[in-house]
Amino acid sequence: MAGRAAMLVNLGTVVMTVLTLASFVEGFGVNWGNIASHPLNPDIVVRMLKENKINKVKLFDADSWTMNALAGSGMEVMVGIPNNLLETLADDYGNAKDWVKENITAYMRKDGVNIKYVAVGNEPFLSAYNGSYLKTTFPALKNIHRALKEAGHTDVMKATIPQNAEVYQSANDKPSEGDFRSDVKQIMLDIVKFFHDNDLPFTVNIYPFLSLYLNQHFPVEYAFFDGNGQTIPDNGKNYDNVFDANYDTLVYALNKAGIKDMKIIVGEVGWPTDGHKYATPKLAEKFYAGLMKRLAKDVGTPLRPEKLEVYLLVYSTKT
Ligand SMILES: *[C@@H]1O[C@H](CO)[C@@H](O)[C@H](O)[C@H]1NC(C)=O
Ligand SMILES: *[C@@H]1O[C@H](CO)[C@@H](O)[C@H](O)[C@H]1NC(C)=O
Repeated sequence: MAGRAAMLVNLGTVVMTVLTLASFVEGFGVNWGNIASHPLNPDIVVRMLKENKINKVKLFDADSWTMNALAGSGMEVMVGIPNNLLETLADDYGNAKDWVKENITAYMRKDGVNIKYVAVGNEPFLSAYNGSYLKTTFPALKNIHRALKEAGHTDVMKATIPQNAEVYQSANDKPSEGDFRSDVKQIMLDIVKFFHDNDLPFTVNIYPFLSLYLNQHFPVEYAFFDGNGQTIPDNGKNYDNVFDANYDTLVYALNKAGIKDMKIIVGEVGWPTDGHKYATPKLAEKFYAGLMKRLAKDVGTPLRPEKLEVYLLVYSTKT
């Protein structure tokens, strides 16, 4: 137990808050990879997550030390493919086959890894990347999906692309005016059609912090799930926090593309602890506490009332 306590202290008070709250909220996952500046022994991380009843993790790669630590744990895993592999996976189907063989099939043994998703790239259409991955992401996704299918894995796992919420936007912050960002609209429509045809989920990373960062007039309490009963009406629905509003902006964008029922996964949600006047450990704790209370309600958003699938990310800078 002493060892475990020491690990928690290393991870910082924000993570401790999250883990403490975790015992009261079931079913959410965590991102693993950016949570600490020092890499922790994966066996310890797996034990710590299990002790805190967290049974879903999202990785940013397929590091074999981590994957072997997860083997036999029963934990649901989203494996990641870094953006720098997209080009080789897009260029040559053989590379995608090799990737699947080495990083998926190898763990599909008895007492292996319970892989549910393969994340192809990470926020590849972020405007900060200047379009670097616009041409390679979709072909890489198609090659990975095909390789998973040929290897017989698509009954148990699905490929997806974690996108930043920046790929869609809405006029006047109204969810009902949501649509894909004009410079990526066509490629997003092509991707969601492929997702729809192959029953793949849409993964989105949502950062309510960015709403405050980008808009000085944004109501602060609305970002912290603390609207004190005040709601913002939109098209017959009422919103009391920016997380729900952002999620439903995506639902409207998908609806406009003719897609009504695509599964949505929140691949990351979090609040930074430094780098901005609103990015402090105190506000981060307030955010995670509000988010946990929100998740504990076990209801979806005004437009999508079903249970949410969410992976938390605790991080220090993200602007
Ligand atoms: C498997 O994943 C690892 C870690 O992400 C990567 O370094 C390696 O290149 C991948 N293997 C293949 C054959 O692509
Ligand atoms: C994107 O373009 C900006 C401005 O030209 C540049 O500063 C930045 O380094 C570029 N980023 C990438 C990832 O290419």
